[in-house]
Amino acid sequence: MNDILLDVNDVNVYYGLVQALRGLSIQVGVGERVALLGANGAGKTTTLRTISGMLAPRSGSINLAGQPIGGKPAFDVVREGVAHVPEGRALFAGMTVEENLTLGFASQPNDRDVLHHRRDRVYDYFPILRERSKQAAGTLSGGEQQMLVIGRALMSEPRLLLVDELSLGLAPKIVAQIFEILETVNRDGTAVLIVEQFVHMALQNTDRAYVLRKGVVVDCKPSAELLGDPALIRSYLGEGTAA
Ligand SMILES: Nc1ncnc2c1ncn2[C@@H]1O[C@H](COP(=O)(O)OP(=O)(O)OP(=O)(O)O)[C@@H](O)[C@H]1O
Ligand SMILES: [Mg+2]
Repeated sequence: MNDILLDVNDVNVYYGLVQALRGLSIQVGVGERVALLGANGAGKTTTLRTISGMLAPRSGSINLAGQPIGGKPAFDVVREGVAHVPEGRALFAGMTVEENLTLGFASQPNDRDVLHHRRDRVYDYFPILRERSKQAAGTLSGGEQQMLVIGRALMSEPRLLLVDELSLGLAPKIVAQIFEILETVNRDGTAVLIVEQFVHMALQNTDRAYVLRKGVVVDCKPSAELLGDPALIRSYLGEGTAA
């Protein structure tokens, strides 16, 4: 691993009385691509929500490039350099593509030149969004909406991009296309931590993977190594996941 960018150390998270994360420790290096795998309910979404500040850990620490971010509100965490692409693609359906992107800039210093520069950069990654810039987000296809949610996250120029189930409900061809764009984003210097139900797609597009079970990290390996061990993947994630 390069220098450590994200360091999650011994984090415990609860929903009321229910403990969702148990002593969770994960790391992401500068510019690294990491997958977070696990069966339904393992705590993947909870992990991303905790890193991005939507949930506060009851104990443990979260540092970004050595600075503590654990427990800070999401609005601050995004300014520190962490952007979150949440499960379920919440967009403002009645607002245009351009307006949705501008919202992703809301936490940044109010500078129109920077805003336009960042929007152009997103349009370079996703040219279809440029074509659709004046169109209401709700009229986009599922794949275009996912691109817009990722584009909105990129408007803060994050050092770390958290992506939750980008493939949900999309055709494999579109998912592959979005992963290719994420690879370019990563090559341009953004580290990514992805949660993905298409295990193979996730492993093919990452350097390392963590496996979660019931809120606990049960394994961490180079993605290529896991990819070469279908029996191990099945043992962690059940039948059908290693096809
Ligand atoms: N808002 C909530 N209130 C109470 N319990 C919750 C809440 N959200 C999640 N949980 C519980 O926390 C645990 C972890 O859930 P989480 O959504 O993080 O799992 P996941 O790995 O993302 O699952 P999936 O693959 O189904 O998206 C589960 O047991 C879940 O039931
Ligand atoms: Mg989830």
